[in-house]
Amino acid sequence: MFRPVLFALSLLLLTLSMAWSAPDDKHIEIETRNTALVIRIDKDQNPTIVHLGQRLIRPDEYGKIPENGKRGEDYTGLYNSVYTPAGGRNLLEPAIQVTHADGNPSLDLRYVRHERKPDGDGVVLTTIYLKDPQYPFEVTLYYKAYQNEDVIEQWSTIRHTEKKNVVLHKYASANLYIPAENYYLTHFHGDWANEMNPTEELLSEGLKVLDTKLGTRADLFQPPSFMVALNQPAEEDKGAVLAGTLAWSGNYQLAFEVDPLHNLRLMAGINPYASAYTLTPGKEFTTPAFLFTYSTSGKGTASRNLHRWARKFRIPQGQGNRLTLLNNWEATYFDFNEEKLTALFTDGKKLGVDLFLLDDGWFGNKYPRNSDRAGLGDWQENVKKLPHGLGHLVKGAESAGIKFGIWLEPEMVNPKSELYEKHSDWVLKLPNRQEYYFRNQLVLDLTNPKVQEFVYSVVDDVMTKNPTLGYIKWDCNAVIYNAFSATNPNPSHLYVEYVQGLYKVMERLRTKYPTLPMMLCSGGGGRVDYGALRYFTEFWPSDNTDGLERVFIQWNYSYFFPSIATCNHVTDWGKQPIKFRTDVAMMGKVGYDIVVSKLDANELAFSQQALKTYEQIKNVVWQGDLFRLASPYATDMASLMYVSDAKDRAVWFSYLTKNRYKAGSTAPVRLKGLDPAKNYSIRELNLYPGTKSTISSDAAVYSGNYLMTIGFNPNVDTQRTSVVLELTERN
Ligand code: DGJ
Repeated sequence: MFRPVLFALSLLLLTLSMAWSAPDDKHIEIETRNTALVIRIDKDQNPTIVHLGQRLIRPDEYGKIPENGKRGEDYTGLYNSVYTPAGGRNLLEPAIQVTHADGNPSLDLRYVRHERKPDGDGVVLTTIYLKDPQYPFEVTLYYKAYQNEDVIEQWSTIRHTEKKNVVLHKYASANLYIPAENYYLTHFHGDWANEMNPTEELLSEGLKVLDTKLGTRADLFQPPSFMVALNQPAEEDKGAVLAGTLAWSGNYQLAFEVDPLHNLRLMAGINPYASAYTLTPGKEFTTPAFLFTYSTSGKGTASRNLHRWARKFRIPQGQGNRLTLLNNWEATYFDFNEEKLTALFTDGKKLGVDLFLLDDGWFGNKYPRNSDRAGLGDWQENVKKLPHGLGHLVKGAESAGIKFGIWLEPEMVNPKSELYEKHSDWVLKLPNRQEYYFRNQLVLDLTNPKVQEFVYSVVDDVMTKNPTLGYIKWDCNAVIYNAFSATNPNPSHLYVEYVQGLYKVMERLRTKYPTLPMMLCSGGGGRVDYGALRYFTEFWPSDNTDGLERVFIQWNYSYFFPSIATCNHVTDWGKQPIKFRTDVAMMGKVGYDIVVSKLDANELAFSQQALKTYEQIKNVVWQGDLFRLASPYATDMASLMYVSDAKDRAVWFSYLTKNRYKAGSTAPVRLKGLDPAKNYSIRELNLYPGTKSTISSDAAVYSGNYLMTIGFNPNVDTQRTSVVLELTERN
């Protein structure tokens, strides 16, 4: 008779005892300028997250925080674990799951110690050491807090000294716990030439998983980047938003679990799919980094935080220069020779770009690369197309006053190639299964050190023979089918070691060629992540360069990646006029993929002038803060502006994205990010020859306060489908 009452009472006591911090609990605060992630260590050394959100003014008050948002009973005390171990009392999605050397499939992780130290310019690194009380098995959690950028970079290392190997079944980079009323997840999906379509959904109880199993790249279907808005759907300038992205170029898993108490658990890391990892005693496994920023003023702040962080801390020469270029891919495809290329780069010079980029098709002799069916892997100049070799072209271009760059796809091979004939064991494919191709090619086994050496030497050889080469476009056009390595003793290490092998090669290349501009391309936007962007100066967002499509594609990439790294080429895709396509391309790093000689006089004059204008404004676009003013998802147009740090200059782009009757900017658009006390003049840029601006030039001056309160109409309509305005401070 008393039993149910007693049971209820003891549950209540348990709940109460877990609901508040005990006096001797220890707190570890990981803080940036505005954000705090607070970890509580209780008397039993259990590490849990008790706060992820705005930083408190007084850190001593973190101790007062009740168990983070626990709205009821957590049977395990682990729902908000800082790194949830599997196999013991955990009931939810784990961050780590292992089988110990003795076969025990459980893990317990208790706090041992932590340390905090400055790690460069406004960066603080907090390291938390955890250990299984019963096994010599350790996990170390790293949190790098970038103070000024409000970004936290988080990863873990795992090691043990058990008598034999331990198998890691799951080994996440990050495990976060976020309580709110509602969780609105924005994630992105797509396919080739259709990258980065956003979907926002209300998460309900249970697990939502974003992942990839493509092997060589994170994206094609969905990128490893997302936003979670708390309580309300994400808005541009309002509301709490966490934007996160995994710095890993291969299989990833992002798991969002609304737990039984309606709190959000997030596990981000390498995809455990087919990736059990055997860890030998004394060896350390390092997970990739998960990056996130938390904003209380919407998606805009979140993206500006990531941009600032990326430019300063991640992307090579993120605060430096970039080269404009003319690419021959869409001008010639595989059909070219020295004369054609010479004409193209001479035209590139006439156009006014910095560099000519020779794309796919310049190599292969036994199996010439005249289509995507043959030759990939045979990196010798095709003697018919380039009888005098690359060096001759490089010199030719240089004496014409333009730099020369080259396309490579060193990780891949066509079955019809000498490389495949000689080294079929370097190729990822399964015995007893028919080969299955993605773009008629297969992937080399980058887990094999000999292949790593080969891939390194593809780039190194071309650079050694042509030391003045000014640019590498690194392509990656296939995913891994029939994933199997002929030489790797651990088949389930393949996916992980592929990416590690790639990074090893890139690390070596970057050490030898620290300033070489390199474009990260993967059949379009397959590989756009901050793992690879440690080595590449820029990325190719999509093969789709239709001006209108690009407004949307670039809009969505811009939540995570800065304009200086976004390669936007003017091509013949789509129906938009060249002015529209050029204006859109200018919101990043400009390139061209057209036949310059086919431009009419106006088009050429416009493009030449646009490149000169770009020279004047590029630093504002590359280094300025991005403000989204009107969304193409909500209005007839897209409108975005970049404002310089000093707020003395801004460049404002607006595009008509719908075509209905009277579509356009019927009212003033409110600007953002200006100094209310400064005065600005407004001038239209990129006017097409023969057209007049409807904006009455430099004469009128507006205060930042006026422009941000009342706004200004860029006069976008069916006659003016794209408008670029420059704001300059006036005294
Ligand atoms: C895919 C890239 O996205 C294109 O720009 C081009 O380089 C082709 N590969 C070449 O094969």
